Amino acid sequence: MFRDLADIENEALKEIEAIQDASGLEKIRIKYLGRRGIITDIMSRLPELAPEQRPRIGKQANDLKVKLIGFISERQRNLKTQTSAEKKQDLDLTLPGIRQEIGHKHPITQTIERICDIFVSIGFKIVEGPEIETEYNNFTALNIPIDHPSRDAFDTFYLETENQKLLLRSHTSPVQIRAMKKYKPPLAVVVPGKVYRPDAVDASHSFMFYQVEGFFVDEDVKFSDLKGILTHFAKKMFGQDIKMRFRPHFFPFTEPSAEVDISCIICKGKGCSACGRKGWLEILGAGMIHPAVFEHVGYDAKKFTPLEKSIKKIGKKENSLTGLTGFAFGMGVDRIAMLKYGINDIRLFYENDLRFLRQF
Ligand code: PHE
Repeated sequence: MFRDLADIENEALKEIEAIQDASGLEKIRIKYLGRRGIITDIMSRLPELAPEQRPRIGKQANDLKVKLIGFISERQRNLKTQTSAEKKQDLDLTLPGIRQEIGHKHPITQTIERICDIFVSIGFKIVEGPEIETEYNNFTALNIPIDHPSRDAFDTFYLETENQKLLLRSHTSPVQIRAMKKYKPPLAVVVPGKVYRPDAVDASHSFMFYQVEGFFVDEDVKFSDLKGILTHFAKKMFGQDIKMRFRPHFFPFTEPSAEVDISCIICKGKGCSACGRKGWLEILGAGMIHPAVFEHVGYDAKKFTPLEKSIKKIGKKENSLTGLTGFAFGMGVDRIAMLKYGINDIRLFYENDLRFLRQF
């Protein structure tokens, strides 16, 4: 009544081995295992057999079904690897490749790294601080009086908080306070980072820009050390023939203070539109750290002889000028990058226009 199951098995195996494509294999599966397939047919007709034959034939038919399922899925796997191997052979290695876009450092990052490298090479360490600061670190500890215009909401972004007055730091100088509280002198530190001011955005103003702060605290640091170090920096940054000029200025956290100019790198000091016909370009603010700042960070203020006291002591005591003193400076990275690369609009740094950025 039934074909010999061993014959069916042999026939099916031959067909499975010979088949070369997935759709052919599917047809074989349907032929044997489908709803009207050969094996399915045998299973459904088992009741026609004599009762004593049923269990044996039933088991044989079921074993064959399991076997065929196994063979078919194995063949399926083989066909898959074969086709992907064939595809690989179609790969034409002589076709031009797809170019990988490789990024590079933003001109501001390059400038920050260049500035910091110059100071690191003479022994300064890099320290960073948070962009969200306390009013105390940003102003009070820096000897900036409560009625100073820079504390005004027009000049500083304040953050709404319940118990503490927080703000977006308006300069990198608060990191002086953080670093001096954390480490003991001698200290030689540079601090790169973002600062924020609510300025209307135009070609030379941005609500966010970059500064690099630097400071040095040790015994008997003099203004001439500040001049020497900044002159070294300017020559490395802008070229050996650059000239420097220190103009008296006022900062609450340094005394005496200065604004520092370099001879115009475009006209070499003759006067042009870049330097407003002055021949000089302002690049940073600097000065000797005010004793009030040392007091705020818990350094022994008596050791940090303020200038007036020192002058009075001259001639009285041999070591009267010795004591912990320091200088600090702060420069605008964007402005320096603009001068160095001849860029006339600060907004270009922050618009992410690749046509601009690719040039650096
Ligand atoms: N913090 C000052 C500013 O943002 C710059 C400065 C730093 C001046 C350190 C003196 C000393 O304008």
